[in-house]
This record gives sequence, C-alpha cells and structure tokens, in this order.
Amino acid sequence: MADPTHSTTAAPPPEHTAMQSLINGYRVTQLLYVAVKLGIADLLADGPQTMEELAATTDAQADALYRALRALASFGVFREVAPRRFALTPLAELLRTDHPYSLCAAILVQGEEAYRAWGELLYSLRTGAPAFDQAYGMPHFDYLAHHAEASAVFNRTMSENTARSVTALVSAYAFPTSGVVVDVGGGHGAFLAAVLQAHPGLRGVLFDQPHVVEGSAPTLEAAGVEERCVQVGGDFFTPPLPAGDLYLLRQVIHDWDDARSSAILRHCAQAMAQDGKILVIEALIPSGNDPSPVKLLDMQMLVMTGGRQRTEEEYRQLYATAGLRLLRILPTTTQFSIVEGARVE
Ligand SMILES: C[S@@+](CC[C@H](N)C(=O)[O-])C[C@H]1O[C@@H](n2cnc3c(N)ncnc32)[C@H](O)[C@@H]1O
Repeated sequence: MADPTHSTTAAPPPEHTAMQSLINGYRVTQLLYVAVKLGIADLLADGPQTMEELAATTDAQADALYRALRALASFGVFREVAPRRFALTPLAELLRTDHPYSLCAAILVQGEEAYRAWGELLYSLRTGAPAFDQAYGMPHFDYLAHHAEASAVFNRTMSENTARSVTALVSAYAFPTSGVVVDVGGGHGAFLAAVLQAHPGLRGVLFDQPHVVEGSAPTLEAAGVEERCVQVGGDFFTPPLPAGDLYLLRQVIHDWDDARSSAILRHCAQAMAQDGKILVIEALIPSGNDPSPVKLLDMQMLVMTGGRQRTEEEYRQLYATAGLRLLRILPTTTQFSIVEGARVE
C-alpha cells in the first residue's frame, strides 16, 4: 500500500521549498557570473540605465539580458526602478570592481574554472583526487601558469580576499619589531605588504612561483614597502627556501594533502632561524553539525587542488609530522585562525 505521507495530493512539506532553493544554487552562480562578466554593476555606478542602453554597451541581446537582471532582482541583486530600467542595490554594489569589498574576481573564478571543476565532483568522491584535474587535464596551479588571464583573476581574488581580513590579521598577532618575514606562497604580496607597513623594522621576502611574483610590484609599491621587500620566484617543494625569522603561510597549506603540506612546512623549518616561528593562517573546521562556510570551502579545496581545510587536531598532527611544535592557535575576528609553530628542539 502507498505510504500516505508521500501522497502527491498532499501539500509539499515546507522542506520542499528549501530543497528547491538548494538545487537551484548553480543558476544563481551563473547569473551573478554573467552580470560581472558583462560589467553591469560598473555601468550602473552613475545611476539607473535602460535595458537598451545596457544591452548596447555590453553587446548582449536585450530581452535575454532583461530576463537575467529580472531574475537577479528577485534575489535583491539590482532593482527594476521603472519598466526595463535597472539600478544598483546594496547587494549589487558588491559586483562593482571599485568597491572596497568587491567580490568580482571571486565570482569570475566561481563561475568559470570552479564551476566546470565542480561538474566533475563525483570523480573526486570516487577517487579522492581533484575534480579540476579531471575537467581540465592538469592541476589547477599548472593551469594558472599556462593561462595568464585566469591567473590574473585568481591573484586578484586572493588580493580581494586579503583586503577583507588584513587589518584584523595584522593586529591579531604580536609581530617582532625586527628580522625577516618570509611570505611563502604569498601571491601578489597584499598580506606581506600590510605586515611590513605596520612594522617598519621588519624586512620581507615574498616567495611564490616566478610568474606570480612577477606581478607583485604594484602591490608592494602602493604600500610603500618595496625597498624593504625582495621578491623570490621558486617552488616550495624544491628546497632551500629563502632564509628568515618568521614564515607566513596564508591559505597555502589548505591547497595540499597531508604529505605535501608536511613537506612545505618542513622546508620552511629547514630555512628558518633557530628561534624562528611559522604562522599558518587558515579557516579551521569547527566540530559538530553547525553551519559553517568553512565546510564548503573544504569541498572547494578537494575539487580544485586536492587540498583540505583542517580541524585544530588535524593541524596538531600535521605540525608533528613536519617536526614542528604547535605553540598556540589564535582565533581572529575573521574566519581565519593563526596556527603558530616552532621547531621541536
Ligand atoms: C591560495 S593562494 C594564497 C595566496 C596568498 N598567500 C594569499 O593568502 O592571498 C596559494 C598560492 O600558492 C602559490 N603556489 C602554488 N604552488 C606553488 C609552488 N609549488 N611553489 C610556490 N608557490 C606556489 C600560488 O601561486 C598561490 O599564490
């Protein structure tokens, strides 16, 4: 006999709507992506525009663009202020390239490389290997090394991400007043620049892949720290790393599995002064079922690079395998914690 609780004549349970909006997440991602790709929010910065004006400037088909913006407006992104005339909303402001908390680069990465890689998620679940490699035929960082535009957008995402958290991170740790700080996998140097700016007695080494550090000069110059900072291109899997007193690894260890993460930490420890410190800056996974964006970020790491977000206990174990002592974990007002380590002596 049919189960009456599953009869289709009954009204759907309230969870039905919640489940539908979960299912539709991919549509919203793509709507946001096309809005950023076409630069719609920037075009509305000086006031509302008609669909015909927007379509002409962006080389879009007016009716299709209208339907996309109407759909976005139903989520509070843009507003139809008169028939076929759209304006910015507080949510849409975040799609402007000149907004201090702009999410433009992040949306481009999510809507392009990450989107295609997530389409192969089942591959990751069957193998534990990154779906990105299955979708693109090569690892993510190799792909970026061969695609200059994608690499520029990725580096901008990281800089945007740093901009949102840097003040809190710099004030959360008692940095030394002198010595050499090495930012390992430091990208374009936004974090290191802020550390050096706040601590005029420190000198810096920005270490990343050669094609990445090449693009760091504008960031270091804008912060006025270029004379206290050298850029070194290299591979953190091929020691020796540059010598220093304090090693920063912000959102680097989460890109790698335990064996490779341990190797990076060991290479830092080998290059580090006797009384040096290592700071891993990552979002830790909280225990339990509570909602946490870090649990989705963890899946992003599996899909893109085969890395992972870790719990406090997993960091303790990782540090031990790298010959490091985990000294303390400092929470910050951001999603990041600072995991401080030193050599085991
Ligand atoms: C997720 S990004 C983090 C960038 C920066 N630390 C930040 O927080 O904005 C990871 C960085 O690791 C760098 N990276 C990846 N593989 C590397 C390698 N083998 N040697 C050196 N750097 C590498 C990438 O180029 C990238 O800049």
